[in-house]
Amino acid sequence: MSIMNRHKFLEKNSGPLVAAILVVVSIGGLIEIAPLFYVENTIEKVEGVRPYTPLELAGRDIYIREGCYSCHSQMVRPLRDEVERYGHYSLAAESMYDHPFQWGSKRTGPDLARVGGKYSDDWHRQHLIDPRSLVPGSVMPPYAFLDGEELDIERIADKMKTNRKVGVPYTDEQIESAAHDLRMQAGSPYAEDYSGFEERWGGVAIPDIPTNKTITEMDALIAYLQVLGTMVDFSTFEIDAPDPDDLSAEIQTDGTEG
Ligand code: HEC
Repeated sequence: MSIMNRHKFLEKNSGPLVAAILVVVSIGGLIEIAPLFYVENTIEKVEGVRPYTPLELAGRDIYIREGCYSCHSQMVRPLRDEVERYGHYSLAAESMYDHPFQWGSKRTGPDLARVGGKYSDDWHRQHLIDPRSLVPGSVMPPYAFLDGEELDIERIADKMKTNRKVGVPYTDEQIESAAHDLRMQAGSPYAEDYSGFEERWGGVAIPDIPTNKTITEMDALIAYLQVLGTMVDFSTFEIDAPDPDDLSAEIQTDGTEG
Protein backbone atom coordinates (compact mmCIF):
# COMPACT_ATOMS: atom_id res chain seq x y z
CA MET A 1 0.00 0.00 0.00
CA SER A 2 1.48 3.30 -1.05
CA ILE A 3 1.19 6.27 1.29
CA MET A 4 -1.53 7.74 -0.95
CA ASN A 5 -3.59 4.58 -0.62
CA ARG A 6 -3.19 4.57 3.15
CA HIS A 7 -4.42 8.12 3.19
CA LYS A 8 -7.38 7.16 1.06
CA PHE A 9 -8.17 4.43 3.55
CA LEU A 10 -8.21 6.94 6.42
CA GLU A 11 -10.30 9.41 4.48
CA LYS A 12 -12.95 6.81 3.78
CA ASN A 13 -13.13 5.29 7.27
CA SER A 14 -14.04 7.67 10.04
CA GLY A 15 -13.19 5.27 12.91
CA PRO A 16 -9.51 4.82 12.00
CA LEU A 17 -9.37 8.53 11.03
CA VAL A 18 -10.43 9.57 14.55
CA ALA A 19 -7.86 7.16 16.04
CA ALA A 20 -5.13 8.59 13.82
CA ILE A 21 -6.11 12.17 14.73
CA LEU A 22 -5.91 11.30 18.43
CA VAL A 23 -2.41 9.82 17.98
CA VAL A 24 -1.15 12.86 16.10
CA VAL A 25 -2.70 15.42 18.46
CA SER A 26 -1.49 13.65 21.61
CA ILE A 27 2.13 13.85 20.42
CA GLY A 28 1.97 17.62 20.79
CA GLY A 29 0.32 17.34 24.18
CA LEU A 30 2.87 14.87 25.47
CA ILE A 31 5.78 17.03 24.40
CA GLU A 32 4.32 19.90 26.40
CA ILE A 33 3.29 17.98 29.49
CA ALA A 34 5.75 15.11 29.95
CA PRO A 35 8.77 17.26 30.93
CA LEU A 36 6.75 18.76 33.82
CA PHE A 37 6.59 15.34 35.48
CA TYR A 38 10.36 15.39 35.79
CA VAL A 39 10.71 18.90 37.17
CA GLU A 40 11.09 18.74 40.97
CA ASN A 41 9.40 22.04 41.60
CA THR A 42 8.12 24.58 39.12
CA ILE A 43 7.66 27.24 41.81
CA GLU A 44 10.64 29.14 43.13
CA LYS A 45 10.80 28.96 46.94
CA VAL A 46 10.52 32.30 48.71
CA GLU A 47 11.61 32.96 52.28
CA GLY A 48 8.80 33.28 54.76
CA VAL A 49 6.19 31.23 52.92
CA ARG A 50 4.99 28.48 55.27
CA PRO A 51 2.04 26.12 55.42
CA TYR A 52 -1.07 27.46 57.18
CA THR A 53 -1.44 26.82 60.91
CA PRO A 54 -4.40 24.59 61.87
CA LEU A 55 -6.54 27.65 62.76
CA GLU A 56 -5.73 29.43 59.49
CA LEU A 57 -6.38 26.26 57.51
CA ALA A 58 -9.76 25.83 59.21
CA GLY A 59 -10.54 29.47 58.36
CA ARG A 60 -9.56 28.91 54.77
CA ASP A 61 -12.10 26.10 54.56
CA ILE A 62 -14.81 28.46 55.84
CA TYR A 63 -13.75 31.00 53.22
CA ILE A 64 -14.18 28.37 50.52
CA ARG A 65 -17.42 26.99 51.98
CA GLU A 66 -18.99 30.46 52.06
CA GLY A 67 -17.92 31.19 48.50
CA CYS A 68 -16.02 34.38 49.35
CA TYR A 69 -14.02 33.74 46.17
CA SER A 70 -17.10 34.50 44.09
CA CYS A 71 -16.67 38.19 44.95
CA HIS A 72 -13.01 38.39 45.98
CA SER A 73 -9.84 37.54 44.07
CA GLN A 74 -6.53 36.81 45.76
CA MET A 75 -4.07 37.82 43.10
CA VAL A 76 -2.42 41.20 42.74
CA ARG A 77 -1.36 41.58 39.13
CA PRO A 78 1.93 43.34 38.28
CA LEU A 79 0.15 46.44 36.99
CA ARG A 80 0.71 49.90 38.39
CA ASP A 81 -2.85 50.56 39.57
CA GLU A 82 -3.04 47.19 41.34
CA VAL A 83 0.37 47.49 42.99
CA GLU A 84 -0.44 50.99 44.22
CA ARG A 85 -3.78 49.93 45.59
CA TYR A 86 -2.99 46.53 47.11
CA GLY A 87 0.79 46.30 47.52
CA HIS A 88 3.46 44.08 45.97
CA TYR A 89 2.16 41.90 43.14
CA SER A 90 1.47 38.27 44.10
CA LEU A 91 4.22 35.68 43.81
CA ALA A 92 3.53 32.10 42.72
CA ALA A 93 5.17 30.88 45.93
CA GLU A 94 2.61 32.74 48.03
CA SER A 95 -0.08 30.28 46.98
CA MET A 96 2.11 27.19 46.75
CA TYR A 97 0.43 25.62 49.80
CA ASP A 98 -3.09 26.56 48.68
CA HIS A 99 -5.07 23.55 47.52
CA PRO A 100 -6.95 24.75 45.57
CA PHE A 101 -5.53 28.25 45.04
CA GLN A 102 -7.90 31.18 45.57
CA TRP A 103 -6.78 33.52 42.77
CA GLY A 104 -10.36 33.90 41.59
CA SER A 105 -11.57 35.71 38.53
CA LYS A 106 -14.19 38.09 39.87
CA ARG A 107 -13.86 41.25 41.90
CA THR A 108 -17.20 42.45 43.17
CA GLY A 109 -15.25 43.34 46.31
CA PRO A 110 -11.55 44.23 46.49
CA ASP A 111 -8.67 41.78 46.07
CA LEU A 112 -7.83 40.12 49.40
CA ALA A 113 -4.34 38.77 48.62
CA ARG A 114 -2.76 41.39 50.93
CA VAL A 115 -5.58 42.12 53.35
CA GLY A 116 -3.67 40.58 56.31
CA GLY A 117 -2.75 43.22 58.89
CA LYS A 118 -4.69 45.94 57.08
CA TYR A 119 -7.43 45.98 59.74
CA SER A 120 -7.74 44.79 63.34
CA ASP A 121 -9.45 41.51 64.25
CA ASP A 122 -12.30 43.55 65.74
CA TRP A 123 -12.76 45.41 62.47
CA HIS A 124 -13.07 42.12 60.58
CA ARG A 125 -15.52 40.74 63.13
CA GLN A 126 -17.74 43.81 62.89
CA HIS A 127 -17.40 43.92 59.10
CA LEU A 128 -18.38 40.26 58.75
CA ILE A 129 -21.31 40.68 61.15
CA ASP A 130 -22.62 43.75 59.32
CA PRO A 131 -20.51 45.14 56.44
CA ARG A 132 -22.71 48.23 56.07
CA SER A 133 -22.05 49.28 59.67
CA LEU A 134 -18.46 50.05 58.62
CA VAL A 135 -18.72 50.61 54.88
CA PRO A 136 -22.03 52.32 54.11
CA GLY A 137 -23.27 51.22 50.73
CA SER A 138 -21.36 47.92 50.81
CA VAL A 139 -23.04 45.13 48.83
CA MET A 140 -21.23 42.43 50.79
CA PRO A 141 -23.67 40.09 52.53
CA PRO A 142 -23.50 39.81 56.35
CA TYR A 143 -22.01 36.65 57.85
CA ALA A 144 -23.06 37.21 61.46
CA PHE A 145 -24.02 33.54 61.90
CA LEU A 146 -20.33 32.54 61.71
CA ASP A 147 -19.86 34.05 65.16
CA GLY A 148 -22.39 31.63 66.61
CA GLU A 149 -21.09 28.48 64.92
CA GLU A 150 -18.64 26.48 67.01
CA LEU A 151 -15.63 25.51 64.90
CA ASP A 152 -15.37 21.79 64.15
CA ILE A 153 -11.80 20.99 65.18
CA GLU A 154 -12.09 17.24 65.31
CA ARG A 155 -11.13 16.76 61.69
CA ILE A 156 -8.36 19.33 61.53
CA ALA A 157 -5.57 16.72 61.72
CA ASP A 158 -7.18 14.78 58.86
CA LYS A 159 -7.40 17.94 56.79
CA MET A 160 -3.70 18.51 57.34
CA LYS A 161 -2.94 14.92 56.35
CA THR A 162 -4.94 15.42 53.17
CA ASN A 163 -2.99 18.58 52.43
CA ARG A 164 0.23 16.67 53.02
CA LYS A 165 -0.82 14.15 50.37
CA VAL A 166 -0.92 16.93 47.80
CA GLY A 167 2.45 18.34 48.80
CA VAL A 168 2.10 20.59 51.85
CA PRO A 169 5.07 19.70 54.09
CA TYR A 170 3.26 19.31 57.44
CA THR A 171 5.41 17.35 59.90
CA ASP A 172 4.07 14.44 61.99
CA GLU A 173 4.50 16.62 65.05
CA GLN A 174 2.43 19.44 63.58
CA ILE A 175 -0.34 17.00 62.70
CA GLU A 176 -0.31 15.29 66.09
CA SER A 177 -0.67 18.55 67.96
CA ALA A 178 -3.06 20.14 65.44
CA ALA A 179 -6.11 20.47 67.68
CA HIS A 180 -4.06 21.83 70.59
CA ASP A 181 -2.19 24.27 68.40
CA LEU A 182 -5.46 25.44 66.95
CA ARG A 183 -6.81 26.12 70.44
CA MET A 184 -3.62 27.90 71.43
CA GLN A 185 -3.68 30.26 68.46
CA ALA A 186 -7.36 31.00 69.04
CA GLY A 187 -6.58 31.97 72.62
CA SER A 188 -8.44 29.07 74.20
CA PRO A 189 -6.97 27.59 77.41
CA TYR A 190 -4.32 25.02 76.63
CA ALA A 191 -2.27 22.41 78.45
CA GLU A 192 1.27 23.30 79.49
CA ASP A 193 2.84 20.34 77.70
CA TYR A 194 1.76 21.70 74.36
CA SER A 195 3.80 24.82 74.81
CA GLY A 196 6.00 23.84 71.81
CA PHE A 197 3.83 26.00 69.56
CA GLU A 198 6.65 28.45 68.85
CA GLU A 199 8.98 25.76 67.50
CA ARG A 200 6.27 24.14 65.43
CA TRP A 201 4.96 27.34 63.85
CA GLY A 202 7.96 29.65 64.07
CA GLY A 203 6.98 33.28 64.04
CA VAL A 204 3.23 32.84 64.49
CA ALA A 205 1.84 34.87 67.36
CA ILE A 206 -0.41 33.42 70.05
CA PRO A 207 -2.49 35.55 72.43
CA ASP A 208 -0.75 36.22 75.77
CA ILE A 209 -3.91 35.79 77.78
CA PRO A 210 -6.07 32.81 76.89
CA THR A 211 -9.81 33.40 77.07
CA ASN A 212 -12.55 30.94 77.91
CA LYS A 213 -14.44 31.67 74.75
CA THR A 214 -15.74 28.92 72.44
CA ILE A 215 -13.78 28.93 69.20
CA THR A 216 -16.11 29.92 66.39
CA GLU A 217 -15.93 29.70 62.62
CA MET A 218 -15.60 33.49 62.68
CA ASP A 219 -12.37 33.23 64.75
CA ALA A 220 -10.85 30.85 62.21
CA LEU A 221 -11.92 32.94 59.22
CA ILE A 222 -10.38 36.07 60.75
CA ALA A 223 -7.10 34.24 61.50
CA TYR A 224 -7.02 33.25 57.84
CA LEU A 225 -7.77 36.77 56.56
CA GLN A 226 -5.05 38.18 58.84
CA VAL A 227 -2.31 35.97 57.40
CA LEU A 228 -3.10 36.70 53.74
CA GLY A 229 -0.15 38.33 52.02
CA THR A 230 1.90 38.73 55.20
CA MET A 231 4.25 35.75 54.96
CA VAL A 232 6.82 37.35 52.68
CA ASP A 233 8.67 40.38 54.03
CA PHE A 234 8.66 42.70 51.02
CA SER A 235 10.96 45.24 52.67
CA THR A 236 13.84 42.77 52.19
CA PHE A 237 12.52 40.65 49.34
CA GLU A 238 14.38 40.70 46.02
CA ILE A 239 13.44 38.99 42.80
CA ASP A 240 14.97 38.66 39.35
CA ALA A 241 12.00 40.19 37.63
CA PRO A 242 10.93 43.60 36.46
CA ASP A 243 10.29 45.95 39.34
CA PRO A 244 6.71 47.27 39.41
CA ASP A 245 8.18 50.79 39.33
CA ASP A 246 10.00 49.97 36.11
CA LEU A 247 6.78 48.67 34.65
CA SER A 248 5.05 51.91 35.50
CA ALA A 249 7.88 53.85 33.87
CA GLU A 250 6.63 52.50 30.56
CA ILE A 251 3.34 54.27 31.05
CA GLN A 252 3.41 57.75 29.57
CA THR A 253 2.60 60.27 32.24
CA ASP A 254 2.90 63.48 30.25
CA GLY A 255 -0.41 62.97 28.46
CA THR A 256 1.08 62.09 25.07
CA GLU A 257 0.10 58.89 23.34
CA GLY A 258 2.75 56.21 23.76
C1 HEC B 1 -21.62 39.58 46.96
C2 HEC B 1 -20.20 39.79 46.93
C3 HEC B 1 -19.37 39.52 48.18
C4 HEC B 1 -19.23 38.35 48.88
C5 HEC B 1 -19.90 37.02 48.62
C6 HEC B 1 -18.23 38.59 49.89
N1 HEC B 1 -17.80 39.90 49.82
FE1 HEC B 1 -16.35 40.73 50.97
N2 HEC B 1 -16.63 42.52 50.03
C7 HEC B 1 -17.54 42.75 49.02
C8 HEC B 1 -17.53 44.17 48.70
C9 HEC B 1 -18.37 44.84 47.62
C10 HEC B 1 -16.57 44.79 49.53
C11 HEC B 1 -16.20 46.28 49.59
C12 HEC B 1 -17.10 47.02 50.56
C13 HEC B 1 -16.86 46.59 51.98
O1 HEC B 1 -15.73 46.76 52.49
O2 HEC B 1 -17.79 46.07 52.62
C14 HEC B 1 -16.03 43.72 50.36
C15 HEC B 1 -15.03 43.89 51.30
C16 HEC B 1 -14.43 42.88 52.02
C17 HEC B 1 -13.29 43.04 52.89
C18 HEC B 1 -12.52 44.33 53.12
C19 HEC B 1 -11.42 44.44 52.09
C20 HEC B 1 -10.64 45.72 52.13
O3 HEC B 1 -9.47 45.67 51.71
O4 HEC B 1 -11.17 46.74 52.57
C21 HEC B 1 -13.01 41.82 53.44
C22 HEC B 1 -11.90 41.48 54.40
C23 HEC B 1 -13.99 40.90 52.90
N3 HEC B 1 -14.82 41.57 52.04
C24 HEC B 1 -14.05 39.56 53.24
C25 HEC B 1 -15.03 38.69 52.76
C26 HEC B 1 -15.17 37.33 53.22
C27 HEC B 1 -14.27 36.65 54.23
C28 HEC B 1 -16.24 36.79 52.55
C29 HEC B 1 -16.83 35.42 52.71
C30 HEC B 1 -17.26 35.05 54.05
C31 HEC B 1 -16.75 37.83 51.67
N4 HEC B 1 -16.00 38.95 51.83
C32 HEC B 1 -17.80 37.65 50.80
C33 HEC B 1 -18.32 41.80 48.40
C34 HEC B 1 -18.47 40.49 48.79
